Amino acid sequence: MTGGAALGWGDLTDEQMRRWADVLDHLTAAVPPGRVTVVVDGGTHAAVVADRLADALRATGRPCARLTDATPLADEDAWRAEHAADAVALADGPRWRRRPPTGAWDVTVWLRTRPVGGDRIDRGGDPDVVVDLHDPAWPVIRHVADRLASHDTWYLGESRAFFAARAARWDTAFGDDLPAYVAAVAEAALPAGAVVVDVGCGTGRALPALRDAVGPHGTVVGLDVTPQMLAVARAAARRAGAHLVLGDSRRLPLPDGSVDAVFAAGLLTHLPDPEAGLRELARITRPGGTLVLFHPSGRAALAARHGRALRPDEPLAEARLRGSADRTGWTVTTYDDPPHRFFATAVRRAP
Ligand SMILES: C[S@@+](CC[C@H](N)C(=O)[O-])C[C@H]1O[C@@H](n2cnc3c(N)ncnc32)[C@H](O)[C@@H]1O
Repeated sequence: MTGGAALGWGDLTDEQMRRWADVLDHLTAAVPPGRVTVVVDGGTHAAVVADRLADALRATGRPCARLTDATPLADEDAWRAEHAADAVALADGPRWRRRPPTGAWDVTVWLRTRPVGGDRIDRGGDPDVVVDLHDPAWPVIRHVADRLASHDTWYLGESRAFFAARAARWDTAFGDDLPAYVAAVAEAALPAGAVVVDVGCGTGRALPALRDAVGPHGTVVGLDVTPQMLAVARAAARRAGAHLVLGDSRRLPLPDGSVDAVFAAGLLTHLPDPEAGLRELARITRPGGTLVLFHPSGRAALAARHGRALRPDEPLAEARLRGSADRTGWTVTTYDDPPHRFFATAVRRAP
């Protein structure tokens, strides 16, 4: 599915071509109407991505002027002379990003790539759109500002594309984390006989520990939205006597108050609306039931690994999580965020 490092169309498989087409369709739809300015930045492929986006925009009938890094002054003159009222100016690279021709960019697109020469590139501020381009043959949109597109249009397909490409290598890449999952589940002290759902279970790494916690009379369910993740999870689910369900955590196929505990590792920050995600987890949990939010790295360590600064308004920042938990029917009972793990628990309040 993935693996190509080249960016030429000729090197891509049909599946990779479709992936690029999906991403370009979403980007094209996210460019607002009118005479807008767009800049693509990040890594070594910004110019090629801008070219492709320009072609995609033109294919939808929108005039588009390229502001390139090679001939910036001539390009800007040509764009200013362009009479079409809805001509999009499409630039690439850090130099243009610092110098918007109209004072501010209408849309900034950031390409998340491998570190260049070992260094992460500073993504500078908050881009409107983030495209993961670690594998140039397999671009995936990871963020689109709500003002540009409803996440209903892009989130599900893009999220699945992101995790599908990682499913086969997940356990090899993160195998060392298993003891941390066992310790987190033990610390959560779930009652024997409980019904527990691992929401966003991925390859099922927590399922055996959850079975140990709830014992032979408990029920363990692993739910994930990515079929490729669930395919890998089958072996762990069989060992743990767990049921696997393909489903979206934003609309869980479970009745109100039907579970005693929810375990969610690495899920919340991948949801487009984490607070709505918490509300849905609360809906399926009985009053007095438990929520465990876990990650085998603390927030600061994870942010450093991804080359970004920690922000106080992130969904798992303590004040923000306590606030959104409060508003969605949970009371946070534990919050622990050292470098080696993120671990928070909450209890479901009576509605
Ligand atoms: C970072 S991985 C963590 C996987 C697993 N919990 C672990 O710790 O190894 C996030 C998982 O959440 C799943 N996911 C993302 N969005 C989801 C959604 N809306 N509903 C259910 N699962 C989702 C992904 O498919 C992926 O398997």
